[in-house]
Amino acid sequence: MSDDFKKNIDLALGNAKRLSNKILIDGKLISAKSSNKIKVVNPSTGEQIGEAPQCDKIDVDVAVNSAETTFHQWKKIPARERGKMMTAAARKLEERKDEIETLLALDTGNALRTQAKPETTASIELTHMFAGLAGEIKGENYPPNIPNTIHYTTKDPIGVVCAIIPWNAPLFLTVAKIAPAIVAGNTVVLKTAEQAPFCALLVCEILQQELPPGVLNVISGYGEECGEPLITHEKVRKVTFTGSFSVGKIIALKAAPKLCPVTLELGGKNPNIIMSDADLELAIPGVIDGMRYTRQGQACTAGSRVYIHEKIYDKVLEGAVDKLSKLKMGNALDETSDIGAIISEEQLNRTLYYMDIAKKNISTEILHGGNQSKGGEYKDGFYYEPTLLSGLPVSSPVCQEEVFGPVACAIPFKSFDEAMKSANDTPFGLSAVLWTKDLSRALQFVDEIEAGFVQVNQCVAPRANVSYGGIKMSGLGKEYAFDSMMNHFTQSKTVLINRGKSNIDN
Ligand code: NAI
Ligand code: MG
Repeated sequence: MSDDFKKNIDLALGNAKRLSNKILIDGKLISAKSSNKIKVVNPSTGEQIGEAPQCDKIDVDVAVNSAETTFHQWKKIPARERGKMMTAAARKLEERKDEIETLLALDTGNALRTQAKPETTASIELTHMFAGLAGEIKGENYPPNIPNTIHYTTKDPIGVVCAIIPWNAPLFLTVAKIAPAIVAGNTVVLKTAEQAPFCALLVCEILQQELPPGVLNVISGYGEECGEPLITHEKVRKVTFTGSFSVGKIIALKAAPKLCPVTLELGGKNPNIIMSDADLELAIPGVIDGMRYTRQGQACTAGSRVYIHEKIYDKVLEGAVDKLSKLKMGNALDETSDIGAIISEEQLNRTLYYMDIAKKNISTEILHGGNQSKGGEYKDGFYYEPTLLSGLPVSSPVCQEEVFGPVACAIPFKSFDEAMKSANDTPFGLSAVLWTKDLSRALQFVDEIEAGFVQVNQCVAPRANVSYGGIKMSGLGKEYAFDSMMNHFTQSKTVLINRGKSNIDN
């Protein structure tokens, strides 16, 4: 073990220990009222690294009451002042970057060099961006359509926001939700994911130091026991969620009786389409990057359906397999690892389940991977080889459902229309990529593809200032940009004021 690797582990374990059994209420790390605990495991080793409070309705009440009491003062602070506090908080994140990124790698199993560091950098940038946008929150003024009337709209904070996040990008998703909500004058109760609670808690602890106590409260727990009472709490006025489609639907239903607005970022089964004229120097690495193999495929934007024109099918696959064989999988805190570990045994089993379906299909060809990695450095951790399949019918569940593991399916096609028909033949509509040198084709793709996040000749991850979200069953609303702050974290009043008549006649 190198000195750096050891240093990373010690730093991360120290923070996990300090944050174990804590929630953040009224600006302080405290114990929960609930005495039940959730075991938190390091995906890279299978070892327990701490416990998270298994909060229930009683802790939800405490957190929401803190946020609600604070809201009445926080909303009166001028937006630019709120923005300045958020800028100071973002600077604190910069100062403690080492702690954040190592804890993120420990929490999630996402490799430090390829994932946890870039996620930390992107999260700090996103926090700065929303902080800087504070002064841009404004309503509209109308021309005098109504005689003798001043007519304008306001942009006001909504109240207590409930944010529920998953484990796959817990840092970026935390700041993507809380930074715009708070800058816009709301207060927040965040429920972390049971599998990866520590990094989100650390980041909120740091942010909260620059904000009045109670602006940001953090609890942990399971969906039904903790998430549902939070959504249905009468004082919660807005819900923002990232996670699975099935839970997104429950959340929308639970929020409906009080007509509470919801933002949902859900899953996808995203097409990555390579035309015969594509620049293969870009498109072949694009298969690997697009599938997010270096985050074990655990990304909602993963391009898990790789459509390749039959003329270049073999060449692209040969190139992709060559690149896959060069990726090093290992402990997330070892900076020589390109790929880390799958978050949990449950998620590893999900990959095994889909691979079982793939292996039972007689026409399946495993071009790369196809096995759980066991023994040696992989012993007790949750590892699965980056896997590329061909020969499966598009109708197979492996090509239709979100595996959320390192498994992509290659699908040959003869014509653009054939590829597009198949690409759109899914209830999801999150992201999509096309590789071509033909501008007209690219623009036709943009017109016809049913997805909310569309790229041509690249497959970058969503980031600050890029409005991101799905259509169809992939979600409701957009995040990460100015419009998300305005559309999802403010409400408006329409104001009509009679100008009256002056009494002064000289
Ligand atoms: P999940 O959707 O169950 O969990 C996400 C968050 O929702 C967690 O904080 C969880 O505690 C909470 N939650 C669960 N049930 C809830 C309920 N009834 N009310 C309120 N909150 C609730 O995701 P899970 O089980 O971790 O992963 C299962 C699958 O979901 C993955 O294999 C993947 O396909 C998909 N997923 C998609 C993500 C995305 O970024 N679009 C992120 C995580 C998972
Ligand atoms: Mg679940």
